[in-house]
Amino acid sequence: MAPIGVFDSGYGGLTVLKEIMSVIPDQDYLYLGDNARAPYGTRSFDIVYRFTLDAVKYLFDQGCRLVVLACNTASAKALRNIQMLDLPKIDPQRRVLGVIRPTVEKLPQLTRNGHIGVLGTPGTIQSQSYDLEIQKFFPQYTVTGHGCPMWVPLVENREADTPGADYFVEQEIRRLMRKDPEIDTIILGCTHYPLLIDKIRQYVPEGVRIVPQGEIVAESLKDYLGRHPGLTQATPLGGPALDGHLGGPALDGHHADAQHQVTYLTTESADRFGDMASLFLGKPVKARRVEL
Ligand code: DGL
Repeated sequence: MAPIGVFDSGYGGLTVLKEIMSVIPDQDYLYLGDNARAPYGTRSFDIVYRFTLDAVKYLFDQGCRLVVLACNTASAKALRNIQMLDLPKIDPQRRVLGVIRPTVEKLPQLTRNGHIGVLGTPGTIQSQSYDLEIQKFFPQYTVTGHGCPMWVPLVENREADTPGADYFVEQEIRRLMRKDPEIDTIILGCTHYPLLIDKIRQYVPEGVRIVPQGEIVAESLKDYLGRHPGLTQATPLGGPALDGHLGGPALDGHHADAQHQVTYLTTESADRFGDMASLFLGKPVKARRVEL
């Protein structure tokens, strides 16, 4: 089997991977966190595109035929270019998917009045990717984005349960709701925000729906794989065998259980990644450091 590549700037994509593994347990996964160059949330369009393309190429070289950008910032700033400009040159048979489209497609089942709030990193919000995607499918909706620059550092510094988090969560929710008091659905458009969901719930007005995206992305991926089963087969029909990460000797960072094999790769310290992973996955993992 070809592993499914799951990419994020760092740890946040693990919240998406966790949901994907629970909805699609019978696949192999190769997770890559570009921790050495994270955060992406405050970086320019060109840099996020370049870094994300490096990662996608790396995962393709490891045998992935399908890569999920489990990062809103990368999905917002790099996905379109990679799909339009790079994939046709690299290999038109391979696929790169993001997290924004599946989240947006779910909206009609969630909103009652079409007033949508989007919380994300400053980069995701400035890119207006959610606004554009929502307008394309549902031009009747009103979209209000709001950047929360402090939320990722709060989570990564293990401050998500402290009074400091209350201050920043309340402040940003207020600012968002002030921009459009009619918002009835708030998309958590950043992989880290599910870790703040208890605090977010406290400050969001009653009746407003909060939408973490992990499960939505996982369900959508399951559906996609059902329609494109060849993407997880190592040898495309009639094509040469791909270099698979599973063919070589056992690697550090390689976890196998009865159902699937998961390999965790990071561009920074493997020990630190393994330790921080417990925050996002609920268990520590063994990771391996790689150079892109
Ligand atoms: N994973 C990123 C996202 O979903 C947030 C972390 C970062 O800024 O790199 O937008």
